[in-house]
Amino acid sequence: MRLARRLAIEAASARIGRMETKQRVFSGIQPSGASHLGTYLGALKNWVALQDDYDNYFCLVDLHALTTPQDPKVLRSNIRELAAIFLGVGLDPARSVIFRQSHVSEHAELAWLLNCIAKVGELSRMTQFKDKAQKGGAEAASVGLYDYPVLQAADILLYNAHRVPVGEDQRQHLELSRVLARRFNGTYGETFVVPEPMILETGARVMSLDDPAKKMSKSSPVPSSYIALLDAPDTVRKKIRRAKTDSGSEITASPDKPAITNLLDIYAAMTGKSVEELEADYQGKGYGDFKKDLGEVVVEGLSPIREQALELLGDPKELDDLLEIGAEKARAVAGATLRDAQAKMGLG
Ligand code: AMP
Ligand code: TRP
Repeated sequence: MRLARRLAIEAASARIGRMETKQRVFSGIQPSGASHLGTYLGALKNWVALQDDYDNYFCLVDLHALTTPQDPKVLRSNIRELAAIFLGVGLDPARSVIFRQSHVSEHAELAWLLNCIAKVGELSRMTQFKDKAQKGGAEAASVGLYDYPVLQAADILLYNAHRVPVGEDQRQHLELSRVLARRFNGTYGETFVVPEPMILETGARVMSLDDPAKKMSKSSPVPSSYIALLDAPDTVRKKIRRAKTDSGSEITASPDKPAITNLLDIYAAMTGKSVEELEADYQGKGYGDFKKDLGEVVVEGLSPIREQALELLGDPKELDDLLEIGAEKARAVAGATLRDAQAKMGLG
């Protein structure tokens, strides 16, 4: 047997062995706008930590990005940028399947099957749709935006993922995935694993730097409200220096100090220290000292990611090839699940 062929078979069998013993993880991020500190602390950082213990599928959900208007050129460059960030934070293509949603057509196909069991009432209750639609008027929102959670359920159920690591804002969408899995299984027979959300205590809800009542968001028109993962170190320092603070001067977390509470949470999530430890460290010190240190902590944490991502962006062919290898692996799993679901519904 040729060496290359043997290696390919060995790799495949090692993978099957792993799949039998490890639970599966699936998660996704949209390549729409800049990924920021919230995306990192709420999602990416946790994904990296899961790599050895689970069988992982991490997806750039480019079909989800299309639910709001995108300039095709900008979308193309955002996809590469997000792929570079996935690798830059430490996701490893040898341990995790990293791919683009639109390269695995089964996602859109299963979404259609699930559309036929999801209810209008369920989608109408989704707060993310209500918030986004409110901004431009529900009448003008795309049908894709309305249907977004069903495509998300298809993403997860196709891989029979047990766990889905996400930020707090995705809890309601995950509940719908669970409802749809149970409904399908109940109607057509056992088909899908019912997935569990995996939401951490710190970092699951990073708030905006200019308004601690809003979550840090890539759709914000104000760049100083978020720290982009590719922001230069001085930009990071400046944004933190200018972040909103509360009245008073104590560095303590409390409901009447939402701005400092958010900065303490960021500090804790970046360093692994507890908020109580940080409060003790900064007793008697002012906002200025605290923000200066936080700026350094964030710069230190993000610099290696930024450098690695920028280097990878210099070789787009390599990024595209890695995504294609991931898509091939993903298709094998997704194809089998889709065929099973189709057959159960009376197709095929
Ligand atoms: P998105 O960038 O909206 O596609 O979100 C990607 C992932 O990051 C999801 O798991 C979100 O829950 C998480 N996420 C996004 N924004 C935040 C935030 N401000 N705080 C914590 N997690 C977030
Ligand atoms: N809706 C998620 C977000 O905006 C992204 C997403 C799409 C996702 N499909 C997913 C997350 C499947 C987890 C699992 O953050």
